[in-house]
Amino acid sequence: MSHRSTVILGTGSYAPSRVLTNAELAHTIDTSDEWIHSRSGIRERRIAAPGEMTSDMAVAAAQRALADAKLTPADIDLLIVATITPDMPMPAAACIIQHKLGLATTTACFDLNAACSGFIYAFDTACAMLSSGRYQRALVIGVEKLSSIVDWQDRTTCVLFGDGAGAVVIGPSDQPGVGLLGTRLGTYGDSVDLLCIPGGGSNAPASVASVGARDHFIKMKGKEVFKIAVRAMEESARDILEQHGLGATQIALVIPHQANLRIIEAIAQYLEIPMERFFVNVDRYGNTSAASIPIALDEARRTGRIKAGDVTLLVAFGAGLTYGSALIRW
Ligand code: UT7
Repeated sequence: MSHRSTVILGTGSYAPSRVLTNAELAHTIDTSDEWIHSRSGIRERRIAAPGEMTSDMAVAAAQRALADAKLTPADIDLLIVATITPDMPMPAAACIIQHKLGLATTTACFDLNAACSGFIYAFDTACAMLSSGRYQRALVIGVEKLSSIVDWQDRTTCVLFGDGAGAVVIGPSDQPGVGLLGTRLGTYGDSVDLLCIPGGGSNAPASVASVGARDHFIKMKGKEVFKIAVRAMEESARDILEQHGLGATQIALVIPHQANLRIIEAIAQYLEIPMERFFVNVDRYGNTSAASIPIALDEARRTGRIKAGDVTLLVAFGAGLTYGSALIRW
């Protein structure tokens, strides 16, 4: 049991201005707005500008979160960045972001890779580090430039993903029973092959052959992932509600990972929580992996969908296959 509560002090998000619509995609690959929208709920996604880096998007979201929290970079002593698309394989994007944001050199900075579940994993990690009392205020960022790792010739994946960033500032609170109430994280490591980038790691370093085989792009077996996603998100949500003695009616808002509207609708049905209490923006951004939940969380707060005392459920699923749920009381 943690000896102090950890609360969200501010949120911020950023999406690149370039909008790529389904109709535009249909000019370059064999697809249609009708197919993409009916199968995924996606209408459009954002694409980073040429030269716009993952770190730039992260900095924009973080500055908004700091402003919302009425804090400055000097107040932060921990930065965790959830991403699968760092500016470069080494060092961590967090190091580049630290410098661009002007965080103190005494800030602990690292990246965390749990793919689309990354934000919940990073949020849990940051809250645990704050609960220890060794850190005071953390910035947790979910950011992706998926346009750089999507195979634009593969219609089964390229229509699904987009770019963006979301950030939260967290800190301790003396008030009991608020902030992060708990998490339920897990992994199905036996299903790595269903969603991965096969090339570029130590097992298959970049080579002329790996580039020719397009092995540096996302490969996904969508149908299989879909089924496991629904089951894992439903189970982890159910578990965490049970653990905390909460019924579906006590959840004011669910913020699910935005991968596919049909996945969200299936979870809503199984959990018996009406769709009106699910936040959905997959139509505007597509799947932004680790950025999807913090972007949605920021939009939910800014549009008045979260009030003091509310309990919010975050639930995600992604490559790994990782999954996780988190309960927050505001
Ligand atoms: O965030 C991490 C986790 N990722 C996910 O949650 C993604 C989970 N999976 C999904 O969201 C869905 O499986 C997809 C949206 C990827 C696909 O939907 P689906 O209903 O499972 O379609 P499918 O893969 O079974 O494809 C149906 C048909 C196929 O044609 P045949 O074999 O039936 O002739 C595909 O070749 O649709 C075809 N197809 C397309 N047609 C037009 C696949 N992609 C496209 C496309 N445009 N972009």
